[in-house]
Amino acid sequence: MSENYAVILAAGDGKRMKSKAPKVLNEVLFQPMLRWVMDSCHDAGADKLCVVAGYNHEMVTEYVGSEAEIVLQLERKGTAHAVMQARDFIARCDGNVLIACGDAPFMDADTIREALELHTSKGNDVTVITAIIPDATGYGRIIRSGNGISGIVEHKDATAEQLEIREINSGTYWFKASTLLNILDSFDCNNSQGEYYLTDSIGIIIGNGGRADAYASENAKVALGANSKRGLFELHEIARQKVIDKHFENGVEFLSLDGVIIGKDVKIGAGTKIYAGTVLKGTTEIGEDCEIGPNSFIENTKVGNKTVLNNVHSLDSEIKDNVQIGPFVRIRPDCVIDDEVKIGDFVEVKNSNIGEKTSVAHLTYIGDSDVGSGVNFGCGCATANYNGMEKNRTVIGNDAFIGCNTNLIAPVKVGEGAYTAAGSTITKDVPAHALAIERASETLKEGYAIGKIKKKK
Ligand code: UD1
Ligand code: MG
Repeated sequence: MSENYAVILAAGDGKRMKSKAPKVLNEVLFQPMLRWVMDSCHDAGADKLCVVAGYNHEMVTEYVGSEAEIVLQLERKGTAHAVMQARDFIARCDGNVLIACGDAPFMDADTIREALELHTSKGNDVTVITAIIPDATGYGRIIRSGNGISGIVEHKDATAEQLEIREINSGTYWFKASTLLNILDSFDCNNSQGEYYLTDSIGIIIGNGGRADAYASENAKVALGANSKRGLFELHEIARQKVIDKHFENGVEFLSLDGVIIGKDVKIGAGTKIYAGTVLKGTTEIGEDCEIGPNSFIENTKVGNKTVLNNVHSLDSEIKDNVQIGPFVRIRPDCVIDDEVKIGDFVEVKNSNIGEKTSVAHLTYIGDSDVGSGVNFGCGCATANYNGMEKNRTVIGNDAFIGCNTNLIAPVKVGEGAYTAAGSTITKDVPAHALAIERASETLKEGYAIGKIKKKK
């Protein structure tokens, strides 16, 4: 079987974005536009990717890593010139090459796949992916003819009659690799912008006796891009709403959409309620019948079923079933919070395992700790996990009772069922079922204050 490759054009600077990053690294719904396009190419089955980078290409190279080959276009002379830079990559392909725009994040995998089917079944040399949109301003117009197309006319070069055409060039095309390679030296820049237009490939191919056609996508947004931060926000809003619609369909309940932003890869189970101000990012997965929010930021966190997260900030962690957390709680990376745990206000947990049914009700810091099940923390406890040079672990057995204001100086162990008295600073291991008290004994001075009260009056 022959292979199909994809070349993503990404050399543009996006001057009007006013960002140091190249245009394609500007984000829509938490992910660079380039990521959306690379994902669509992968999902549509492209065997290899090549990215044409130009403006601040180091940033593109770093972002892309080993996912794609990078070729440089140091001087921007148009979309065909960008493709010329990928000549060696195209020469290695024995099937078809997709040319895509790195700044069109909504080009979807289904459209790319369906266009390839048309392309191969009809034996086309080029198949342009198009969309039919109400306002075609700025886009290249598709000139249909017979059973294919005869050309694409850029907005700036179009006649009044051509400007009426609503079918536009998305900027993404399938080419037979051999055909594309053959025509790479045939472009000129005799047009209003003095650029090498890839759109001229249609005329060149037809002139050589080849076949050019168009595939009109059902997704009218395939060509949408952004030139400014306002435009980027509009793309972000479209993507945000689309993701929320998918969750509505899956049985997720939203009490308000105000400030609700959900990344495109997040999964949420049916029956879960999402309150205002909830941001769910990355690989987050939420189970069924949970309540998330208000005002929670959950990133790369796996949450079980029937769990409540109210005003919680959680990163890179796992929170299991029937857990109640919040308000105002921070779960830092590498925590596992087991079933039926309760964590209350102003608690921070980091790199720790908290066992089933443990309760950490208020104002406590647990870092680098392994806490058993059924443990009770009083108010204001802290693990002293850092001695200025290294982090040490605290280990607390099942059913231990950590009194209010206990400091646990790690490394230290509190045995199963052991107690620490309120206000104690624990530096030595506490055996199972023992009580550790570390306090100066209280001195009472009877009547000491009576004279003072009289003076005040
Ligand atoms: C292009 C198409 C137009 C189509 C539109 C869809 C041409 C001549 N026109 O116009 O028909 O409707 O896309 O959005 O192709 N790029 C480079 N190097 C360059 C020039 C561009 O890498 O020298 C990249 C850009 O970074 C961008 C993509 O190619 O990712 C499209 O370029 P852009 O300048 O936006 O083309 P348009 O004028 O929008
Ligand atoms: Mg454009």
